[in-house]
Amino acid sequence: MRSRINLLDKLPFTATAIAHPNIAFIKYWGNRDDALRLPLNSSLSMNLAGLETRTTVRFDKSLNTDSLSLNGVLQDGAGLTRVAAFLDVARKLAVEAKLLGPKGLGLFAHVESVNTFPAGAGIASSASAFAALAMAVNGALGLNLPEAQLSRLSRLGSGSASRSIPTGFVEWHAGQDDESSYAESFAPPEHWDLVDMVVIIDQGHKQVGSSQGHPLARTSPLNDLRVAGVDERLRVCKEAILARDFEAFAWATELDSEWMHAVMRTSTPSLRYWTARTETVLWQVRYWRQKGHALCTTVDAGPNVHVIGTQDELDFALPALKALPNVIDVIVAKPGAGASLV
Ligand code: DP6
Repeated sequence: MRSRINLLDKLPFTATAIAHPNIAFIKYWGNRDDALRLPLNSSLSMNLAGLETRTTVRFDKSLNTDSLSLNGVLQDGAGLTRVAAFLDVARKLAVEAKLLGPKGLGLFAHVESVNTFPAGAGIASSASAFAALAMAVNGALGLNLPEAQLSRLSRLGSGSASRSIPTGFVEWHAGQDDESSYAESFAPPEHWDLVDMVVIIDQGHKQVGSSQGHPLARTSPLNDLRVAGVDERLRVCKEAILARDFEAFAWATELDSEWMHAVMRTSTPSLRYWTARTETVLWQVRYWRQKGHALCTTVDAGPNVHVIGTQDELDFALPALKALPNVIDVIVAKPGAGASLV
């Protein structure tokens, strides 16, 4: 009889994967179940090409604890704890699939992760981080999970990471439970030549991260109203993307961002991510759209503004955005692919 140890020895113990961050047009804010990251609503996003997280995971019998290096710096504290908890889920899956014997729960890993985009740029790194980690772990342990299950797995690390697994334009179905809450692609990256111009006006770290913010959503009197209207905004936004209808897309995207920030501000404690600089960019882009430019805005849990436009607006918008007061940099990203093994 083949022993489990033999099987364990045969596993490809190391794998490298890349994943891109994504920008949500219809936002995820608040969970029905915080531990499982089952969201209050379905959300919709586009992966961001050119920006990536590259992660190598190495399971090694000689290690006696999990370790994490981020951009070359060994981590401890909350970041490591979150990754170790994620690795526990993956180890459990491998044991359940009999890829590892029961002792596999004590098979530790070293994770090495590098981002090509700057920290504090208003681009959530947890999405690409956990998508790349899920993909790498899947390869290293030989789990062989199909895309929907990979999306579910990365969701347990970070909700928005579920949307960085499939390619291009993606919908995360809120679902009813762990099994039905996953993301899938509804259009490839080349479907529509949109660009995300991330206008960086503040490089400081956000005061309250998304994970701490989600549980506060239910304290807002506006939360139920936001959730009641989100399916309709998602339907309009998705149809607008499929029809390449910028006007309808801009309406749904801007309104949805406004709703999320209204809930954030009216939560207890109140979360206020926009600054005066944020407002300046929002007003400016609104003005340009009134003048006929295909540009709109969306803002995540921070002050920086994602200006979304069609590719043919880039020649006008990029220098114009860079020339605005207090703009530190503008990062340009086109629609991107899903996560993949290297
Ligand atoms: C404002 O996915 O970062 O970017 O699940 O706790 O990791 P965790 O939260 P996260 O939340 C993203 C919030 C958002 C909106 C969005 O991307 O949909």
